[in-house]
Amino acid sequence: MQTFQTLKDAPAGTIKNGTKVLVRADMDVALENGKIAEKYRLDQMLPTLNFLKEKGAHIMLAGHIGRPNGKPVNELSTKVLKPYFDEILGVSSSGIAGTTTYELLENLRFDPREEQNDPSLAKELAAKADVYVNECFSTSHRNHTSFVAITKLLPSYAGLRLEKEVETLSTVIKKPARPLVALIGGTKIETKKPVIDKFIEVADYVLVGGKIGLNWNVELATNATNLLLPSDYAEMEKDIGLSTIETYRKIILQAKTVIWAGPMGYFEDEKFASGSIKLAQAIVDSRAFSIAGGGDTITFLDKYGFLDKFNFISTGGSAMLKFLAGDKLPGLEALGYTD
Ligand code: 3PG
Repeated sequence: MQTFQTLKDAPAGTIKNGTKVLVRADMDVALENGKIAEKYRLDQMLPTLNFLKEKGAHIMLAGHIGRPNGKPVNELSTKVLKPYFDEILGVSSSGIAGTTTYELLENLRFDPREEQNDPSLAKELAAKADVYVNECFSTSHRNHTSFVAITKLLPSYAGLRLEKEVETLSTVIKKPARPLVALIGGTKIETKKPVIDKFIEVADYVLVGGKIGLNWNVELATNATNLLLPSDYAEMEKDIGLSTIETYRKIILQAKTVIWAGPMGYFEDEKFASGSIKLAQAIVDSRAFSIAGGGDTITFLDKYGFLDKFNFISTGGSAMLKFLAGDKLPGLEALGYTD
């Protein structure tokens, strides 16, 4: 049961003309040559931003791009997003009450305190605003300042997209149509390994690929019979091999629900996109209820024309997997969410 307060539930008058609203925004998008390469996560914030705009709020956008490790990194500056936000927030459209002003804060992760759930940074951020909104489901699994400490200092609400993520994902996982297949790839083995362990209990099959499949060494192996690791790889081990693709494809074609996070190979180079493409096609062909998520997976689906062929695209990768596996997400708990 969803019990957290969402933007829609905010008491009348909480957000009005001139109210300063700090939006923990989802800005971690793929960049290429100093430009936005893929903007799915940004676009998903539009309902919340329009809601605030209609109220005439002063919108303060705070978020992160990449992993700068607590120091400024030029290429990861949020400045790259300014043209996007200028376009959607800068000019007031006719028919909209109030006047919206906005500011774009610098990458929060340039400050080492962001990842430390630090009260002093929370205080500095809270001093700028009247209300806080979490509109970044994809990082809500992190116990970071802009997700947790900040909520102790300001009236805090879930953004409209965050609410939709929680609603959709909890509905699917409560009673999934079976067989339920989890396809997990990508690179972040440290966040995905514990989730894979949980999926072994929940799903009928857990198919592992990508770099995490490669790095899945003997010590990490379990005796689970529903966990499959790649049996072969393509050239330079940058994609899963033909025999693995075929095994995974057959399992996916029988599925009634498929959850996918993390590409199967280094799809940025077309030579190594074949595993991801063939399995994406198998998911579509299976007619299973399909959910995919995560920055790289979205970039892949967008690049190869699959984005609108899935039933639900979550903005979260690890956050989605953790939520589906029943883990508690600090950013949601901080908003009072209990399932
Ligand atoms: C993501 O891309 O999954 C989120 O932005 C979280 O990123 P992180 O793994 O660097 O915390």
